[in-house]
Amino acid sequence: MTLLFKVDEARGRAWKSLFETHAPDIDVRFWPDIGDPSQVRYFAAWQPPRQLHERFPNLQVIFATSAGVDQFDLGELPEPIKVVRMLDPGIAQGIVEYACFAVLSLHRQIPLYLHQQQAGRWQDHFLTPAAQRRIGVMGLGNLGVAVLQSLRAFNFQLHGWARSQKSIDGVQCHAGDDQLESFLSQCDILICLLPLTDDTRDILNARTLAALPKGASLINLGRGGHLKEDDLLQALDSGQLSHAILDVLNEEPPSPDHRFWQHPHVWLTPHVGAMTAPQSAFEVLLANIRRHQVGKPMQGLIKRDHGY
Ligand code: GLV
Repeated sequence: MTLLFKVDEARGRAWKSLFETHAPDIDVRFWPDIGDPSQVRYFAAWQPPRQLHERFPNLQVIFATSAGVDQFDLGELPEPIKVVRMLDPGIAQGIVEYACFAVLSLHRQIPLYLHQQQAGRWQDHFLTPAAQRRIGVMGLGNLGVAVLQSLRAFNFQLHGWARSQKSIDGVQCHAGDDQLESFLSQCDILICLLPLTDDTRDILNARTLAALPKGASLINLGRGGHLKEDDLLQALDSGQLSHAILDVLNEEPPSPDHRFWQHPHVWLTPHVGAMTAPQSAFEVLLANIRRHQVGKPMQGLIKRDHGY
């Protein structure tokens, strides 16, 4: 029974030593040293190669080393192969840190103050109390919920939106297409933490951005595919939106002439909101392998019909 990883060398070394120390019974290999393909039961990667099931006839589970699984072509994989997303607590921690940094920067008008500094201007602006600032999170999975729970400490007005009705302490929850516009109309700062599926692709578009209050801001921590970038540029240029903080883009890295690079109202980071760390992810991965070995349900199992 082999667990085959396709990861970079440094991460590979960390995974190898964790398995050697804590689970020596599992034969762990690293792409391209695949060993006997018929022995590979588990495959772990962020970007898996195509046609995995043809190369590994006894493959049973693919473990994404990421929270999102949109990079997998689920339709191509035969049904019996299970796909599991990474529920590393280190990812949630990273996303919470990034979301808090971004929300507090926008809430405290840091983009404006940085422009003023560059212009040599010393000028204060009215400080909106947190209790009057409305923050909305799209996507109420483990990451969205963790972000909302952390933001509660600041006393913001919190809203959440998901495809089905959820209940989260201290958060006004909205559900489904019918409630999307009324949710958006109450978000001064909107955070996208949705999974990328056929239903959510391009969900941040001219129509939805126009539903936000004038001068609202956007934080995209989901996927570049959620956002129609030209529509965001128009919303920023017209003043409908005041600022965007983007950790994910349609094309990563964006082309050197992409307008986001130099846009005065866009902050970009290179998809670093969270990173799976072998140290914290190891326990989650091993627990899932042990569950699978004894026929128990794994945590983070993807529902094929939902795509997440
Ligand atoms: C990173 O984007 C992830 O999905 O973990």
